[in-house]
Amino acid sequence: MSPSRESEHQRTAIEPHIVTPPPGPKSRAYMEREKRLFFAAWYTDKDVPLIMRRKRGWLIEDVDGNRYIDMATGWASTPLGAGYEPVIERTIEVLRESGGVECTDYVTDVHLFDLAEKLVEVSPPNLTRVAPDTTGTEAVEAALRLAREKTGRYFVITFHGSFHGGNYGAAGAGPLSPDVTRGIKEYIHGFIHVPYPTCYRCPFRQTYPACGLACLDYIEDVVLRYETTPDQIAGVLYEPIQGENGVYIPPDGWIEGLHEMGRKYGWVMMDDEVQTGFGRTGKMFAIEHWPGVEVDLMPLAKALSGGALPIAAVLGTDAVMTASDEIYLGGTFAWQPAACAGALAGIEAMERERVLENVARLEQIAQERLASLVDRYEIVGDVRIKGVYIALEFVEEKESKRPAPTLTRAIHRRLLAKGLIAIHEAGLWWIRLLPALNMPPDLFRRGCDLIEEAVAEVSREQGRGVA
Ligand SMILES: Cc1ncc(COP(=O)(O)O)c(C=O)c1O
Repeated sequence: MSPSRESEHQRTAIEPHIVTPPPGPKSRAYMEREKRLFFAAWYTDKDVPLIMRRKRGWLIEDVDGNRYIDMATGWASTPLGAGYEPVIERTIEVLRESGGVECTDYVTDVHLFDLAEKLVEVSPPNLTRVAPDTTGTEAVEAALRLAREKTGRYFVITFHGSFHGGNYGAAGAGPLSPDVTRGIKEYIHGFIHVPYPTCYRCPFRQTYPACGLACLDYIEDVVLRYETTPDQIAGVLYEPIQGENGVYIPPDGWIEGLHEMGRKYGWVMMDDEVQTGFGRTGKMFAIEHWPGVEVDLMPLAKALSGGALPIAAVLGTDAVMTASDEIYLGGTFAWQPAACAGALAGIEAMERERVLENVARLEQIAQERLASLVDRYEIVGDVRIKGVYIALEFVEEKESKRPAPTLTRAIHRRLLAKGLIAIHEAGLWWIRLLPALNMPPDLFRRGCDLIEEAVAEVSREQGRGVA
């Protein structure tokens, strides 16, 4: 792509603009059609009541002509903003050249190789092999099968509040909430769920570091004493930072301690970087925040796409990835030639554009503008920030930490009316921000201003005021 096209991307109009508060009349008409066409859970309790017309750069435009700052980025899947030309152009080029869909584990296409090599190059040194997939859910399920195949063992330890995907295996693994596992839990066996270090809401009612990482001791003291023996456990599947549960960042020692236990018992350590991978937390992969920790399998998706076509992968060690030559993973759509070319262009662009430096700038702004809301508003219970993995947790009052889902909903709706799309789901009491890694700092600052305005207005209206 020529430099002029690249800078055109950077220059895209970057002002939010609300013509008519959402849902505008056109969005409402679409939402009526939606109710007639889709399954019930799709349209019930719609979190973002508007219909998108297009997106470009760091903004989303709806059918009513409203423009919003995009802090959802396709759930972290457009890391370079929407329509990032070097990725889109390369994807289209290879889509034409390759002729469209191919089942590449049968007729293997030339574009797979450069991507596989690039992934091995940018990932931790002990991860040397790749298993292709299409979605994060599939990559997680592939990792579970690889771990069981390698060890010949059955159980996998996973964590309360984790999310690993939406199908039976992955949803069964990640008990984010009873909603996610409803109708699934009773059919899926083989997981042992244990507490994650959700320190703001410690299930043991303790405080770090005085707790001595009681949540880690729980595995040895309870699971390995009453539930099963270490030699029946194939591995541990964890998010290095819990995303959907509201960006819980493990305290020092937890990941290290977990891996020490895994090494002792021969468990396959599965680091789910589907959401944290490719710069989101300020490092290429979140696990790099804990130097010296070596994972065995690493599911990847979302940002791997570069924002163009769906693609996912599991990276793994020689030992795990070559333990069986009989396991079937992937599927018809895994690693389409054009998706591979787009993904490679995306990773190259992240390196070329030094996005990690921008993430550090955005993180600093978030620390200055958002972390301080805890001190100023009674309803802001906690703000958790790692890179541009950000959550604001809302409470009825600080002392009791009583969750405030209704207030949170009101703040989220107010943000939409002001021109910002963040992440909030019905019934939950936190709002997450997943801006593009290359979002201009001024636009991010503007977004932080809108957040403070929304928090201040809802606080005042609810008679809560300043802490
Ligand atoms: C940590 C994690 N793992 C797995 C998944 C599932 O990915 P997908 O939605 O691509 O199936 C998600 C999705 O949000 C995720 O956050």
